[in-house]
Amino acid sequence: MPKKPTEKGMGKEDIKLQTPKGMRDLIGEEYYRYQGFFEKASEVAIYYGFQPIETPILESEGLFYHSVGAHTDIIEKELYTLRTKGGDRLALRPEGTAPIMRAYFEHGLQSQPQPVMLYYHGPFFRHDSPQKGRYRELRQFGLEVIGSSKSITDALVIRLVNTILTEAGLPDLTIEINSIGDRDCRPIWKRELVNYYRKHAKEICADCRERLKDNPLRLLDCKNPKCQTLKIAAPSVISYLCTGCKQHFKEVLECLEAMNITYTINNNLVRGLDYYSRTVFEISMAPAEGEADGLPLALAGGGRYDYLSRALGSKKQVPAVGVAIGADRVLAAPGVANLLPRLIKKPKIFFIQLGTEAKMKSLSIIEILRHTKTPIAHSLSKDSLSAQLGIAEKVNIPYAMILGQKEVIDNTVIIRDMRSRAQNVVKLDELANYLKTLKA
Ligand code: HAM
Repeated sequence: MPKKPTEKGMGKEDIKLQTPKGMRDLIGEEYYRYQGFFEKASEVAIYYGFQPIETPILESEGLFYHSVGAHTDIIEKELYTLRTKGGDRLALRPEGTAPIMRAYFEHGLQSQPQPVMLYYHGPFFRHDSPQKGRYRELRQFGLEVIGSSKSITDALVIRLVNTILTEAGLPDLTIEINSIGDRDCRPIWKRELVNYYRKHAKEICADCRERLKDNPLRLLDCKNPKCQTLKIAAPSVISYLCTGCKQHFKEVLECLEAMNITYTINNNLVRGLDYYSRTVFEISMAPAEGEADGLPLALAGGGRYDYLSRALGSKKQVPAVGVAIGADRVLAAPGVANLLPRLIKKPKIFFIQLGTEAKMKSLSIIEILRHTKTPIAHSLSKDSLSAQLGIAEKVNIPYAMILGQKEVIDNTVIIRDMRSRAQNVVKLDELANYLKTLKA
């Protein structure tokens, strides 16, 4: 039963005026930084023919169990779940790939020309331990190419994420790539890996003993110093890849080389989601000097997921590949560009009004300015000339437009050049043309 407002934890005295742990408000400049980044990333995606998609924040809980995998950290430890009043079990989406595959089938996108290429951005939720670069509400920009098994599509998503991050001002990127095989060759490698780790079960950490039972590939992901030596000698996937997987991997690497994209093969890269097959990759930046944990934080990760369609109940196998960029990490990275959204224009004119009549006419004059697409700033709630001029000086806007009692009667405004302090009286019906002559 839902608590009543009088019950413990629900009274007014229990209200905390703060966001839940690991979640943040984005206000003003910070909001624009996210918007600017998503705009830049979308621009690149649109150029390459991707279409936008937005899926709900809530999805059925089962969708993630059968895609991300029941024994992954995301599902076992981090999924936010809820039961609706009607009894449905829903989850706050922890990632975007499974919902997009769901949407692909729900909307019959398999009958469109393939591959279907989709981009998205928005908030995702993982009940992780909040720390630098790790939030419970995280924001991603993602790309999914659904309906092609060709290696060029793997290279395409790697290329695009590389382009987006470079154009966001982050040129020192490390691309780690691996192939984790397909359903023919992976089970053989997995068996060898399990045999190897079983022999050394006493030497591995407690988490790895769990992994050995539930999710053996994640043994290769362990960061515990105790497990590092064993990892080096563990059976490497590369020796077990079948001819098809080997060929696919070779082609992806050749495409990257043809585009002069530098990469590192990391045979221990397995990724934390179960739906991958063949190509997996992560892009990171080296930590800044003196950073505590010394491990590079992944800015983006992705890979091929040829079996996800089947895992979600489709009879037909629909091969696909994609990537998601962690926008929070990108925007916190040293050197990231301040990409302002197109919507935001630097104000050219500071609008100043003096007296009651002028204040009343202000909004109509601001509308004239809006129609001429002249970006302005104002302080309509202020009354005195000095207070308003003071703000105009501080924000470094090149012109002020002054509307006083006399100007209201004469249907004019005064335009003042804030640098030279020269002033001109301009008739309202000539204002639009006059504004075009002003240099920014
Ligand atoms: P992922 O590696 O789980 O992949 O997440 C992608 C990126 O999201 C990470 O590289 C990281 O930058 C960011 N990220 C993940 N967790 C957090 C967190 N707690 N706080 C801040 N940022 C975080 C996926 O989500 C897959 N859906 C990617 C994909 C798309 N694979 C195929 N298509």
